[in-house]
Amino acid sequence: MTAPTILPLSIERLFYAVAGRALLESVSVEIAAGSRTVILGPNGAGKSLCLRLAQGLIAPTAGCVVWKGPGAAQAKMRQAMVFQRPVLLRRSAAANVSYALAVRGVPRADRPSRVEEALARAGLAGLGDRPARTMSGGEQQKLALARAWALKPEVLFLDEPTASLDPAAVRAVEAMIQAIHEGGTKIVMTTHDLGQAKRLADEVLFLHNGRLVERAPADRFFEHPSTLQAAAFLRGEILA
Ligand SMILES: Nc1ncnc2c1ncn2[C@@H]1O[C@H](COP(=O)(O)OP(=O)(O)OP(=O)(O)O)[C@@H](O)[C@H]1O
Ligand SMILES: [Mg+2]
Repeated sequence: MTAPTILPLSIERLFYAVAGRALLESVSVEIAAGSRTVILGPNGAGKSLCLRLAQGLIAPTAGCVVWKGPGAAQAKMRQAMVFQRPVLLRRSAAANVSYALAVRGVPRADRPSRVEEALARAGLAGLGDRPARTMSGGEQQKLALARAWALKPEVLFLDEPTASLDPAAVRAVEAMIQAIHEGGTKIVMTTHDLGQAKRLADEVLFLHNGRLVERAPADRFFEHPSTLQAAAFLRGEILA
């Protein structure tokens, strides 16, 4: 039996301000099950803030984030997040995955097989005993993804998952994201990389200066952006 869905996620008139300066203004959007949602925008647009607010890591100044699905009460346990710079424990790669499973209440006896499977899917089979913090940047990012994958989340939030990786590692991580999605996990990710958005997005939320400027299916967004800011961003212009 599959658990009832926690989606959709409703983001309602979200404001976030620090020291009186508005960093996010009136962002409203409903995030539905299924598609890969990519939050796109230039540096400083508010993408990371949006993701942290959506995941409940920080509280909004005004507005709210509400899980509306019938399984909403389980929302905390059914989502996972991968940060731009992986946050790994000073333990082995396997222990990092195993710890996350323990926190989610996965029985001890089930953990080793789930750890092994996740590491193998990430192309890290054989690296389970390595201290996580001695792994390369690309390996660490794959490990962070493996850890999230092992949790079998219904929704996976990813903040610039390939920002500091070389092209081969970018391809590997994008393939993992694709495989996680094909396994039935809803993907919500940020990027400022147009190529990545084109490769991965089904739906684009374009953010600029703390505002949600445009929301569209990916093909329409890239072919016919409906706002001047999005069109300028797609042309590679620097936005004011
Ligand atoms: N705690 C904070 N205090 C003050 N300013 C903040 C804080 N957090 C974020 N900001 C500012 O809010 C704006 C949006 O930040 P955010 O990290 O969401 O941008 P981003 O779109 O993720 O950019 P990038 O592509 O560089 O990751 C930036 O100008 C940032 O400096
Ligand atoms: Mg960011």
